[in-house]
Amino acid sequence: MYNQELRPQKELILCEDGSNTLFSKEFNEPYHSTKDGALHESLEKHVKPAFGIKKEQESLTILDICFGLGYNTFATLYYIKEKNLTTKVHILSPEFDEGLVRSLSTFIFPPEFDFLKPIMQAISKNLFYEDEQFKIEILLGDARESVPQIKEKIDIVYQDAFSPAHNPLLWTREFFRDMANISKTDTILTTYSTAASVRLGLYENGFFIFIHRAELMRYSTVASMKMLESFEYVDMELKKERNPTAQSFRDEGFE
Ligand SMILES: C[S@@+](CC[C@H](N)C(=O)[O-])C[C@H]1O[C@@H](n2cnc3c(N)ncnc32)[C@H](O)[C@@H]1O
Repeated sequence: MYNQELRPQKELILCEDGSNTLFSKEFNEPYHSTKDGALHESLEKHVKPAFGIKKEQESLTILDICFGLGYNTFATLYYIKEKNLTTKVHILSPEFDEGLVRSLSTFIFPPEFDFLKPIMQAISKNLFYEDEQFKIEILLGDARESVPQIKEKIDIVYQDAFSPAHNPLLWTREFFRDMANISKTDTILTTYSTAASVRLGLYENGFFIFIHRAELMRYSTVASMKMLESFEYVDMELKKERNPTAQSFRDEGFE
């Protein structure tokens, strides 16, 4: 039975892929695209494109913006298990909703995540998990404060905040600058957003922009610090010429 009291200001929604997500009354937005589905979206828009590029690396540091129900983190572990990968993964994930993370041990996730229950319980209790292969750290608090303090260099960013319309400060040029500062020369970023302002903010911080086409869902964006051959390149200079009024989101005006 879904316990509403554990997650105030949120309603449970069943997605079309059969996985559960939440609707946030505070942000007036669902945590996932209910049409694409929480699990399907995590795998297709984030994990598969990222690991398609990075699967040969022995160890990966991932920034998961923001933890929410943890689907992107859990789908990463699920993908690694399914593919029998030995990749060591360190996931850093900002989240300011402590109550939500603490309630995760009682959330009904899809059966694909059953093997992750002990990890979910540890995260729910300690906001931290570590074994020989995986280290998961919830960075409790505002992502705008925690990201600039990260000491590790990041291989992959899953940019999965609520939309720019509802949470603009997590999509600004300045926030992408903070991400660029902790990036490597080949960091990649995945996001569902295809907005020109988001892509411009990434481009202004040194990311090349690509289109990612996944199965049974709308296309999304992959951004990379290095040119990629396997994705459809978006020429941002040409985009700027064709749409001279387009601008990245800026902190100024939203603070
Ligand atoms: C769209 S949901 C993330 C979905 C998540 N990736 C998942 O798989 O469930 C956005 C999350 O960002 C969190 N959030 C919003 N603004 C934040 C901020 N400034 N700092 C930290 N967390 C934030 C919300 O509490 C929410 O859990």
